[in-house]
Amino acid sequence: MPASPPPHLRKTARSSQLIVNGKPFLLLAAELHNGSFSDAAYMSTVWPDMKQRHINTLLGAVQWDLIEPVEGRFDFSEIDKIILDARQHGFHLGLLWFGTYKNALSSYAPEWVRQDHERFPRIRIKQPDGSIQVIESIQPYCEDVRNADARAFAALMKHLAEFDQENQTVILVQIENEMGVMLDSRDRSPEAEALIKGPVPEGLLNYLRGNWDDLHPTFRDKFPKVQHAADGVQTWAEAFGGDQWTDDMFMADAFSRFAQHVAAAGRAEHNIPLYLNVALCSEDSSWQDFDQVPDGVPEGEIPGQFPSGGPVGHNLDVYLYNAPDIEFYAPDIYLQKHGKAAACFAWRNMPLFIPEQRRDAYGVRRIWAALANNLAISCSPFGIDSLEIEKCPLPLHYGLLSKLSGFILEAQAERASDIFGFFFDESKVFSDDSRWVREMGGFTVTVQRASVTGKPSPAAGMIIRQPDGSYLLAGFGYQVTWKSTSPRSIHTAILKAEEGDIDENGDFVRGRALNGDETAHGKLITMPAEDPDYGGFPIPFLIPARTMIAKCTPYSLED
Ligand code: DGJ
Repeated sequence: MPASPPPHLRKTARSSQLIVNGKPFLLLAAELHNGSFSDAAYMSTVWPDMKQRHINTLLGAVQWDLIEPVEGRFDFSEIDKIILDARQHGFHLGLLWFGTYKNALSSYAPEWVRQDHERFPRIRIKQPDGSIQVIESIQPYCEDVRNADARAFAALMKHLAEFDQENQTVILVQIENEMGVMLDSRDRSPEAEALIKGPVPEGLLNYLRGNWDDLHPTFRDKFPKVQHAADGVQTWAEAFGGDQWTDDMFMADAFSRFAQHVAAAGRAEHNIPLYLNVALCSEDSSWQDFDQVPDGVPEGEIPGQFPSGGPVGHNLDVYLYNAPDIEFYAPDIYLQKHGKAAACFAWRNMPLFIPEQRRDAYGVRRIWAALANNLAISCSPFGIDSLEIEKCPLPLHYGLLSKLSGFILEAQAERASDIFGFFFDESKVFSDDSRWVREMGGFTVTVQRASVTGKPSPAAGMIIRQPDGSYLLAGFGYQVTWKSTSPRSIHTAILKAEEGDIDENGDFVRGRALNGDETAHGKLITMPAEDPDYGGFPIPFLIPARTMIAKCTPYSLED
C-alpha cells in the first residue's frame, strides 16, 4: 500500500497547492519537446543535464498513436522506461496525454482512427476563398472518437495506478493539448451545421444566467446579454448573438464535454490532478507582449487566431460547468503579457500552473512574480531539452528557488499578502525609475533596480515577510526601501541586514553583515547583480551578487 495518498490539490485561502507524498510541492518544472518521451534512449542523454538545472519536474507527452497502434491493444513499455528512469534520476513527471487533440489537430490519433473518416468524421473549416475544407482534426461530438480516446486514456491511467501509485513519480496529467479549432471560428461540417441551429443546452444557459456575479470577468465583458437572457430554451444565436464569439461558445461546449468524458474515464482509474492547457486568447489589446509576430503565427485575438472553443478566459465558465473532472486550466504564455495571463487563470481557487512559457531570461525572470503574486504552483519553460545549459537561465533561477521553496510554499498557503515577486527587463534607459510597490507588515515596500553608476542590469526576485517581522529577500539586481505606513512615523530605516543562505534543513543562516555601502547607510538594501556596472566610476562601492539571499529588518521611529 502507498505510504501517502496520491498527489492531489489542497485548497488554501486564495488558491490551491499540489500535495505530493503528503507535503506541499513547488514544481520547478520544464517541458520537453513533443517527441522526447517517445524514446527512452534519447531521454537517457537528457536526465543528467536537466538535473544540473535544478529542475525537479519534467513535462512530456504520452502519445495515443504509440500506446494503441492497433485498436484495443495497448503498449506502455516505452513510458514505463521513462518513468523508471525519471525515478532513478529523482524527477517527478507531468504527463501530457496527446490524444485526439494536439494544437487543435488530431495528428497523434492512431492510424486506425485517422484513416477512417466515416467512423471518425472530420472538422471542416471555411477557407479564405469561401470553400469548405476537411482538416486534420476530428469532430468533438463524434461519440466513437470520444469513447476510443477515453478508453485509451483510462487504460493509461489504470496502468499508472498499478505502476506508479507507490512512488508517485507522475504527479499530474494534462488531457489533450490546446484544444479548439484553428483558422476558423467553428466547424462547418454538416454535423456542426445541424447542431448549432439547435438549442443551447438548457442547464448551461441556466448556470450562466443564475451565477452571473461569479462568472469570469472576461465572459461578462464579452456576453453582457446573457445576464438578462430570457428564461427557457434559446438557440446559440439567440443566446450569444450569432457572431464569431457565438461559434467560439458553441465549440467550447463541445470540447469541454469531450474533455470531461476523457477525464472522468481516467480519474475512475487513477485519481491524480488533471488539467487542460490553453493556447491563449488575448482578451484585449493590453495582453499583447510581442509586437513582431511573424506572418502565419496567430495573434490570438479572434476565434481561429486562437483555437476557437478552447478553455480561454471567457470560455472558462463553460468548461467549469461541463467538465467537473478537470481541476484547473493552464495557460501557455508566449506572446501575451505574463501577468495578464497569470491573473486570468489564477481564479476561483484554481492553482496557477503555466505548463509552457518562454525559456529565455525574459520569460524566466517573470516566474518570480507568478509564484509570489499569483501563487503559481509552477511555471514551466517549453523546449528545454534543445537549449544548451550554457544559454539556459534555469540553473540561476531554479537554483535559488529550490532553496526558497519551503518559504514560498508556507507563504503561499498561509500568508499570501506577505510574499511579493518582481522583475526588471534590460533597461532601455540609464535612469529608469520603474518600481514595484506593495504594502507589507505596516510598511510600504518599494522595489527598484539596484542603483549603479553604469547601466542597470535586468533583475528578478522576491520578498517574503517572516512571522518575526523580518523580510527574507532573494534574487539580484534590485534594491528595496521600506516606509512605515503609520501616521505617527517620523523616520523609517533599516535596523539590520544580513547576507545569508538556506541550509539543508531549510533554515536561513547568516553570512556577511550588510551595512554602509550595501544598505546606503540604512536607507535601503541592495541585492546586487552578478556583475554590477560601474560605468567607469572609480570608487568601488558596489559588491557583486554572491548567495543572492538576505534577511532585512526595517524599523520606524514614531512621535
Ligand atoms: C504549444 C504546444 O502546446 C506545444 O506542444 C508546442 O507545439 C508549442 N506550442 C511550440 O510550438
